[in-house]
Amino acid sequence: MLSSQKFAAVAMRTGTLPDMPRGHFVGGAFCGPIGRRLMESFDPGTAEPFAEFARGDSADVYAAVECARRAFESTWRDTAAAERGRILSRAAQLIREEASRLAVVECLDSGKPLAEAEGDVRGAARAFEYYAGACDKLQGDTFPLGPGYLGYSHHEPVGVAAQIIPWNYPIATAARGIAPALAAGCTVVAKPAEQTPFTALLLAEILKRAGLPDGVCSVVTGTGAEVGAPLAAHPGVDHVTFTGSVATGIGVMKAAADNVTRVVLELGGKSPVVVLADCDRQRALDGVIGAIFENAGQICSAGSRLIIERVLHDGFIEDLCRRAEALTLGHGLRNPKMGPVNSAAQLARIAGFIERARRRGVTIATGGGETVDPETGRGWFYQPTVVSGCAADDELVREEIFGPVLTVQIAEDAAHALALANDSQYALVAGVYTNNFSAAHHLAQRLDAGQVYINEYFAGGIEVPFGGNKKSGFGREKGLEGLLSYCRTKSVAARY
Ligand code: NAI
Ligand code: MG
Repeated sequence: MLSSQKFAAVAMRTGTLPDMPRGHFVGGAFCGPIGRRLMESFDPGTAEPFAEFARGDSADVYAAVECARRAFESTWRDTAAAERGRILSRAAQLIREEASRLAVVECLDSGKPLAEAEGDVRGAARAFEYYAGACDKLQGDTFPLGPGYLGYSHHEPVGVAAQIIPWNYPIATAARGIAPALAAGCTVVAKPAEQTPFTALLLAEILKRAGLPDGVCSVVTGTGAEVGAPLAAHPGVDHVTFTGSVATGIGVMKAAADNVTRVVLELGGKSPVVVLADCDRQRALDGVIGAIFENAGQICSAGSRLIIERVLHDGFIEDLCRRAEALTLGHGLRNPKMGPVNSAAQLARIAGFIERARRRGVTIATGGGETVDPETGRGWFYQPTVVSGCAADDELVREEIFGPVLTVQIAEDAAHALALANDSQYALVAGVYTNNFSAAHHLAQRLDAGQVYINEYFAGGIEVPFGGNKKSGFGREKGLEGLLSYCRTKSVAARY
């Protein structure tokens, strides 16, 4: 097995990797799209297409859902929980064995630095490992109905679970949806983003090699309109997990509503990072930098609003800007501190926010411009950007930018910080930096967010439930609660 460095060298030399999957993965095999159309995926680090994949349509979706239904009824729902666990466990093992190639594919397709892609692949393996262990611990309940009666419940799989996946964390999001769905006994039709289709396809093929019966997990690639929409609207789909933008999430929910299909929506964020005067300053600086510049800020849970106590403000912002300016940019394969953004459209969207802000007279403390890979002069890059002195009602503070842009607001004290933090249409995550135990936990209670990180942004892993409130969506992924998203309760009451 080649190391990531060897795969990276091949990719660097040739611009791609050999043996990239070109078809959908349906019914346990790669297959060409029924409409015979292909489309290209771009390498954001060069802004050039690097591989072709299937451009599916509703006919491919119908075939995959049909397959998933058959596999659900004929095998998977009745496969013993322990056996499901063994298959998921082998999948985790295979992901680890093939991590180098998966990481380089992810790096090429999404643009993210190789080290981050390697972390995402480790996370994907961990998701399968975690839910492998949960399969045979999914227990029901009994009810005290009195003499002569027996009441009990158990968790049934919902059925066919669709996964609509975004481009920012392709393999990680695929794994955190597919693993619990399979663990619960559901079958899956996944639709990766058209910007990043490849690792979901490779994952489906790995699952087959791990022993997953044919048809239990299919992947159909193509655009949102041509594949995502018919999947969300399909009456044979019993559950939809969607991660992406608020506008598309609303459309998915409406389409699912026509069939009364359940949904989990993991949508946008504008998450606050509250830095109080008594924090560990170095830790806070590291945390704030990572929260907004990891994956070039293209994270639903990015810490994109710094809310800092006035006494710390000036020195902290100065250090933050120096740190932001020192971040190396470049093609993901060279492992810079920050890679490109994922697409020309995303770059234009980020640049648009900053241009409008400049016109309003907002001061950009550092960054604020498009740029290129300094080594090749190519790619879709945006400078790490800090915007200080932001009014609470400014567009930059209100809207999800989904790029390396941090806004800064000054708080007079913890109560003021809390008010600023909660003043958002989003409520996905929140960060708190303080050494005051009481203040930390008071804020954790009062912050409107699905999860709160104290003194380490992004702390936790697959064990911790994740999801949003308000326009950030509803339902929880990860953790044992994520498993229950794919279950429905069957209760039985009997007289004897
Ligand atoms: P999107 O929400 O449209 O795409 C996410 C997924 O939904 C992709 O797989 C896409 O093909 C699919 N999709 C698109 N239209 C669909 C439809 N009508 N029915 C079903 N599925 C559909 O997001 P997009 O256009 O890639 O990015 C737009 C903005 O959304 C970004 O600038 C960013 O602000 C935000 N975004 C947020 C994400 C998050 O994790 N919260 C992830 C991706 C984007
Ligand atoms: Mg791509």
